Amino acid sequence: MVRRGKIKKVLIKLKVWWFFKHIYHYYHYLLVLKWFLRGKKDPPIYITKRKVIKEYAKQYKIYTLIETGTFKGETTKAVKDTFGLIYTIELNEVYFEEAKKRLEKYPHVQVIHGDSEKILPDILDLMNKMGHPCLFWLDAHTKTITAIREELKAIFSHPIKDNVILIDDVRFFTGENNYPTIPELEKLISENLPNSNFEVKDDIIRICPK
Ligand SMILES: C[S@@+](CC[C@H](N)C(=O)[O-])C[C@H]1O[C@@H](n2cnc3c(N)ncnc32)[C@H](O)[C@@H]1O
Repeated sequence: MVRRGKIKKVLIKLKVWWFFKHIYHYYHYLLVLKWFLRGKKDPPIYITKRKVIKEYAKQYKIYTLIETGTFKGETTKAVKDTFGLIYTIELNEVYFEEAKKRLEKYPHVQVIHGDSEKILPDILDLMNKMGHPCLFWLDAHTKTITAIREELKAIFSHPIKDNVILIDDVRFFTGENNYPTIPELEKLISENLPNSNFEVKDDIIRICPK
């Protein structure tokens, strides 16, 4: 398979990179428009989700992002300038290596290889020492496995309670394939973070301080 980096180098050499970059950029805005005009029925494309992460970070003045499920690090890269510090955890070694390479030139971004269920408590200990709230982008799952219950357990036991928690791909939360249902999560949140609001919008659960 021809790698994207190689295509980019060829386009730069041919002096047509600028043109293709802009076409690519506007193509994605057209996809957002299509999603909007179709009544937001499909899950929003990633541009919209990244915008949500940036908006919450700005609204709650959050310095640190903790992402679970890095995949190839594209969302991490897209939101990197919004945060002063980023931890992102990926279980799959191939994706981890690709993300690490993509993000190695940003010293404030730490890509960690492993299971978020095991690693998140250690990062939370570190955050506790720093003493400020974080934005969590909880996205560690496959179609049949989700780390969400253990991740939330770790966050609930953390002394800082004014974090912003965004849970992606809520369309999977149907109670099937070991996924919790949305009412189950809402109950968990109201029991463990009673001073938080719980909202579901555009395929993302948003849990924010009241
Ligand atoms: C939907 S993708 C994440 C997309 C990414 N956050 C983004 O916005 O581009 C889910 C990722 O979670 C990873 N994953 C699944 N279970 C995990 C776990 N327990 N810990 C860390 N990563 C996990 C998968 O390997 C996959 O790369």
